[in-house]
Amino acid sequence: MVSNGKYNAAKLALKLVKDGMVLGIGSGTTVEIFLNLLGERIREEGLVVYGIPTSYQSYYAAIRNGVKIIDLVEHEPELCIDGADQVDAKMNCIKGGGGAMTREKIVAKASKKVVIIVDESKLVERLSMPVPVEVLPFAYGYVERKLKEMGAEVKLRHGSGKIGPVVTDNGNFVVDCDFGEIDDRDVEEMEERVKFLTGVVESGIFPKKMIDQVIAGSSSSANFL
Ligand code: 5RP
Repeated sequence: MVSNGKYNAAKLALKLVKDGMVLGIGSGTTVEIFLNLLGERIREEGLVVYGIPTSYQSYYAAIRNGVKIIDLVEHEPELCIDGADQVDAKMNCIKGGGGAMTREKIVAKASKKVVIIVDESKLVERLSMPVPVEVLPFAYGYVERKLKEMGAEVKLRHGSGKIGPVVTDNGNFVVDCDFGEIDDRDVEEMEERVKFLTGVVESGIFPKKMIDQVIAGSSSSANFL
């Protein structure tokens, strides 16, 4: 069932899209709703929109909806629209529920403006869910030990429809690292410490400095935080 909160957040974000725009396109169900709504505008208003998607999921959803696919070689997105798994009171986020955080972070950093769209159930006082970390398969054992030394409970992510670990769109593993509650003053440092481990490709910690605006949707409306 489509959450109205996701739909309302996606609908408000749609107003930010202008004809001829280059968009960074995140991943996940909220972004897919956004792309379906964008597709309606493309068909009805004849908008031309260029997009740099961050996963196979959003790549195909963008194509189905008439977005013209481009890449980061020649283009810099004006606006990046992405979802999140948790957003704290200061706008720090955890992403990577769908395992797409590496490309999402690259595209977000390459974009002039980053807008996160979430159902209001994702809003929390402090980040607390396990942090997804993308790891080179060869480095998995080493990285897992190091993350445990940092105090995390670490679980290799397994999916469904295939036995064995989830393999990301980049050919890597994902470990979900439970650090407990993360104080907003520690978010940036934690991102840097995790990233510093050799073999870590990227983490799902998105500090507030990377994010310009958050749109939170409820069952009846949506607002910029
Ligand atoms: C994927 C992500 C997604 O943006 C995040 O998981 C939110 O997904 P959804 O919109 O389906 O709740 O970070 O890696």
